Amino acid sequence: MATIYYTGCTLDGFIATDDHSLDWLTSRDIDEDGPMAYPAFSERTGACVMGANTWQWILDHDEDPWGPKPTWVVTHREFAPTQQVRFTDDDVREVHAQMSEVADGKDLWIVGGGELVGQFHDAGLLDEVWLQYAPVTLGSGARVLPRHVELRLEEVARNRDFLCGRYSVVR
Ligand SMILES: NC(=O)c1ccc[n+]([C@@H]2O[C@H](COP(=O)([O-])OP(=O)(O)OC[C@H]3O[C@@H](n4cnc5c(N)ncnc54)[C@H](OP(=O)(O)O)[C@@H]3O)[C@@H](O)[C@H]2O)c1
Repeated sequence: MATIYYTGCTLDGFIATDDHSLDWLTSRDIDEDGPMAYPAFSERTGACVMGANTWQWILDHDEDPWGPKPTWVVTHREFAPTQQVRFTDDDVREVHAQMSEVADGKDLWIVGGGELVGQFHDAGLLDEVWLQYAPVTLGSGARVLPRHVELRLEEVARNRDFLCGRYSVVR
């Protein structure tokens, strides 16, 4: 079971614009059956975790916000209760333990944002980073991983518009 940060990002290391837009990402061409695409990745994960702004983006953009995957949202806010989603301000170690219990041996997906991923890394709980680089720069926005994290490149592929890299965390 690995704990994986899987996300699309820009060439200059952002995962959203300053006002939380993902238009630069969702407008790109990707083969959903191609290398490192989301459907196959999702299959191998048994639980996911995200921060409050990411959850808010999902609420704002999807009629059916999330599939059947057990989901943790770390937040101090009051969100409307949703099936399959647990809202918590527990330490990420505790969240990780809870996720591991329900994931049935599958991988754990950290959706983002970057600071939350950094909290998992600080706790020694981040194993891999999978990045899909869109052919664009933004100049500013939400940073992909605002920490010094040493990584080893394990796999690289092209999926239509995207340069895809799979990295392991060097401890
Ligand atoms: N490109 C992609 O594929 C991709 C992937 C993921 C996200 N995104 C986007 O990137 C942006 C990320 O936003 P963001 O960087 O602000 O990150 P975020 O992690 O989504 O949200 C940060 C907020 O989560 C809460 N939080 C984080 N850690 C916490 C903890 N340990 N305990 C309790 N609450 C905690 C805090 O809000 P409160 O204290 O107010 O609750 C914090 O301000 C969003 O626009 C999202 O849609 C893009």
